[in-house]
Amino acid sequence: MRAITAAAHPNLALVKYWGQRDATLNLPVNPSISVNLSGGTTTTTVTFDATLKSDRVALNGAPADTRACARVTAHLDRVRALAGIATRADVRSRNDFPASAGVASSASAFAALSLAATRAAGLDLDMRALSILARKGSGSACRSIPDGFVEWIAGDNDAGSYARSLVPCGYWDLRIISVTFGDHAKEVSSLEGHHAAPSSPFYAARLAQTNETLDTVRRALLARDFPLLGMTAEREALSLHAIAMTSRVQDRPWLSGIYYWKSETLRLIHTIQTWRQEGLAVYFTLDAGPSVHLICEAKDQADLESALAPAIAPLNGSAIISEPGRGAWIVDKRACASTPADTSCIR
Ligand code: PMV
Repeated sequence: MRAITAAAHPNLALVKYWGQRDATLNLPVNPSISVNLSGGTTTTTVTFDATLKSDRVALNGAPADTRACARVTAHLDRVRALAGIATRADVRSRNDFPASAGVASSASAFAALSLAATRAAGLDLDMRALSILARKGSGSACRSIPDGFVEWIAGDNDAGSYARSLVPCGYWDLRIISVTFGDHAKEVSSLEGHHAAPSSPFYAARLAQTNETLDTVRRALLARDFPLLGMTAEREALSLHAIAMTSRVQDRPWLSGIYYWKSETLRLIHTIQTWRQEGLAVYFTLDAGPSVHLICEAKDQADLESALAPAIAPLNGSAIISEPGRGAWIVDKRACASTPADTSCIR
């Protein structure tokens, strides 16, 4: 009965995962590139306990609901199958960022759970195997395992679909400011969005463009070319939303398309473009929700923050600031005593 604690950051895609090749294995249609967000952390402790009759799951100090419990148990079953054990587990997980922060917590949650549960089960998976495991819990979770700026290789089977680090978190001193507007419940989940994507008449055009977008983002990262990175990421996010807005959602005949945007989203998009015209180098990206993620270089953070505060106050907006973050790590010092503190504790 060894309690192991692991932690992971959420991640933000610069080239988006939108559409699934295999819904059971969470295989994506296209590769994606993301950056880990240091501004949020999920910390998860797993203890396999022979006295438990079923898995026990607590999220942010309260027992998890049935749906969350079932997802965690399904993931623990994958770990048990790998380790050849049947023992049930106690899982305690906490996020230090609010659920309404506009940052998806499922990526950090399944990354931290994968690392903590495999170590608690006596396994020592390498980075690739751990990323594959995390992907099966939640697709984008595979990108929260490696360090810094990360590419998810789409692959066409289970073993070939995993994420790896392109450049480490210290490579480029960027800032990501995630702005959320009040507590908007999402009407259409990202899972429904993935399923609906191929129904858009423009989906094939998006996919035809993806290789070029990936190449450009890789090149911009290596060269630290901020305008190239920013404009490419911004157009890429708009491409996802063009697909969403022209997708047909099953079982919702009253929806002509999926609008993840709120009026506040569009107002901030216009403001960002005006700031750019005035000389402030800031770009945005959007996930499957109304939040806007602003990206700037560290040297422009103060200017951006002073422009942003009065712009989002009337929109009831709040902001979380991140730097590029590390990959998933073990928190329990005894479990990785030989690993330097500033590197991930995964091979
Ligand atoms: O991991 P999921 O199923 O929540 O999908 C994530 C989808 C986007 O956030 C919109 C894009 C991405 O690549 O993270």
